Amino acid sequence: MKKTVGTASLTKKRLLLGITGGVAAYKAVELARLMTQVGIDVQTVMTASACRFIGPITFQSLTGNPVYTDFWETNTASSMAHIDLSRNVDAILVAPASANFIARVANGMADDLLATLCLARDCPLLLAPAMNRQMWENPATQRNLAILQGENINILGPANGEQACGEVGMGRMLEPNELIEVIQAMLQPKLLQDKNVLITAGPTYEAIDAVRGITNISSGKMGYAVARAALAAGANVTLISGPSCLTVPAVTKLVNVMSANDMLDAVKKEMSQTQTDIFISVAAVADYRAAKVSRQKIKKTDKRLTLLLEPNPDILNYVSNLPKPPFCVGFAAETENLEKNAEIKRKKKKLPLLVANLANEAIGLNESELILFDDAGKHRLLKAPKIIQAQRLIKHISESYK
Ligand code: PMT
Repeated sequence: MKKTVGTASLTKKRLLLGITGGVAAYKAVELARLMTQVGIDVQTVMTASACRFIGPITFQSLTGNPVYTDFWETNTASSMAHIDLSRNVDAILVAPASANFIARVANGMADDLLATLCLARDCPLLLAPAMNRQMWENPATQRNLAILQGENINILGPANGEQACGEVGMGRMLEPNELIEVIQAMLQPKLLQDKNVLITAGPTYEAIDAVRGITNISSGKMGYAVARAALAAGANVTLISGPSCLTVPAVTKLVNVMSANDMLDAVKKEMSQTQTDIFISVAAVADYRAAKVSRQKIKKTDKRLTLLLEPNPDILNYVSNLPKPPFCVGFAAETENLEKNAEIKRKKKKLPLLVANLANEAIGLNESELILFDDAGKHRLLKAPKIIQAQRLIKHISESYK
């Protein structure tokens, strides 16, 4: 009997698994097995380089479907493999996606079967990169990734760790159990279909003078991941972001802000225009701002300089105390007594759900470990890439939100 996942069976779902050339191709075997096990009909397409690492017959045996490797394959419905294979699938996942493949897709190349069917697709495309850390960090790869993210192509990972070449760094493909979690979340019914979700992300910047300010090291990674997960769950997403250099997800609406006061104004404006169902406050909002902002650059002297600070408004507090508040989700980054402080924050801000993380293990990083606190108690989300944590969070919210 085929297994079901969560409340929804995936037995009617079809996924195209693309495999490109890389050592991580061995992980695709386990991935294909897991997907088949949960009832997904897996159609495998391999590049010529992938076939150097692993044989097509392995995937054929595991999935029960023929494996396509050749652009000139004629054994498909209309003898046009690049069209046939990209139709009637719910998503395409390329895992591993090599640096070369990422570059080809980013540039709209159609020089083999897998690249061509990605170009011809009319379904979501997910890429799980795997490569040497230098290749990952190379500006050319980062440029290609930014293009793909701007086109709403989901980039899953990579993770940090030991690599096949012996080096340590970013570039390891996510583990099959992590990838299957993303796929399951995506193929299940849309958990937040048509809900209006408002998300704050990133740091704020509180000016001191014309060129200086107070900020923090929040990158926006968590907030942007939550925005991506909410979009994938079918929500209309408004993202209010403090300064961040990340590629912005293809949200329904983006509002860029600098200070906490700007962010509060943007939140108020958005809520006056749209009926917000869920408010997720991921932003690391500065608690204080300069009491007086100098319009000119403050001159250096050899005397001490005292900066007078005054408290910023608490945006989340404002929203959760509205007469009819949306479902409010707060975040808490703590450096000590995580659980105790998080519980105190949840009660003080009257939140149905609060997400706690250790600041030094989350801020600016690609992965985090989270603890969710709600009326039912606490729920630990073991360390994982932020996009996976975001999907887990969205699932939890969809189950709590009435
Ligand atoms: O951006 P990344 O690098 O990915 O890092 C993510 C993160 C660590 C910043 C994120 O996961 C996180 O924990 N965000 C909350 C940061 C925080 O410390 O918040 P806080 O404890 O100061 O505030 C608690 C809650 O109130 C937060 O939801 C915050 O958005 C909100 N708040 C706080 C102050 C304020 N003036 N207005 C607010 O709305």
